Amino acid sequence: MNKKFVIAIDGPAASGKSTTAKQLAIKLKYIYIDTGAMYRACGLCTLLQNISLDDEVALKKMLDKISIKIEYAEKGNRIFLNGENVSERIREADITKLSSQIAVIGMVRRKMVELQRKMGEDGGVIMDGRDIGTIVFPNADFKFFMLADVETRALRRWEEMKNNRKNITLEEIKEELIWRDRNDTTRKISPLLQAEDAIPINNSEMTIKEQVEMIYSVIERG
Ligand code: DC
Repeated sequence: MNKKFVIAIDGPAASGKSTTAKQLAIKLKYIYIDTGAMYRACGLCTLLQNISLDDEVALKKMLDKISIKIEYAEKGNRIFLNGENVSERIREADITKLSSQIAVIGMVRRKMVELQRKMGEDGGVIMDGRDIGTIVFPNADFKFFMLADVETRALRRWEEMKNNRKNITLEEIKEELIWRDRNDTTRKISPLLQAEDAIPINNSEMTIKEQVEMIYSVIERG
């Protein structure tokens, strides 16, 4: 496997994309790019600069100047917004919701897509998100679409948050996922969609190891 492929992994929130992509990136010695983190950083930026999502002029100014950098590391990437490490802040509930809301805005998507194409232009990347196989890299060498039922996804997210639950219930997590699924799949621009040529992987009954092995074997076969 000498060629440096572009691998796209799309799917709804908490469908296991990032865990799988991270492990696959280590196995393949590729760079992992979490595009959701970029929309999250963008959402946080509007909050920090007190910009309303309806204010097109202020949003444009913000996007013209925004710097989003990913520092790659095996034990976990770090994301920097305008030079500041925001890796933890962007995982909080208010930013989770804001990221889905800001992701419906055309100029935001255009900017993120431009940055993502630049990050992936040399190949050797695994990029996960909602529109990677459809819009960002429609010619990606491999495309996967991860799926899992909402109960499984909510439970996984709940387990993940074990040490930091802040009184959130399983039911609340499930509701948040359903809200985000609806918002991400029904938006007009680049909705969450399985590319026609993507391989669907329903992982409700699969372990992470099995998912990684399955994708790895497809890539190995070429
Ligand atoms: O993958 P995530 O949960 O961190 O993504 C946060 C939000 O960002 C998600 O609800 C929708 C948006 N998003 C998007 O619209 N397109 C992408 N490629 C990645 C994320």
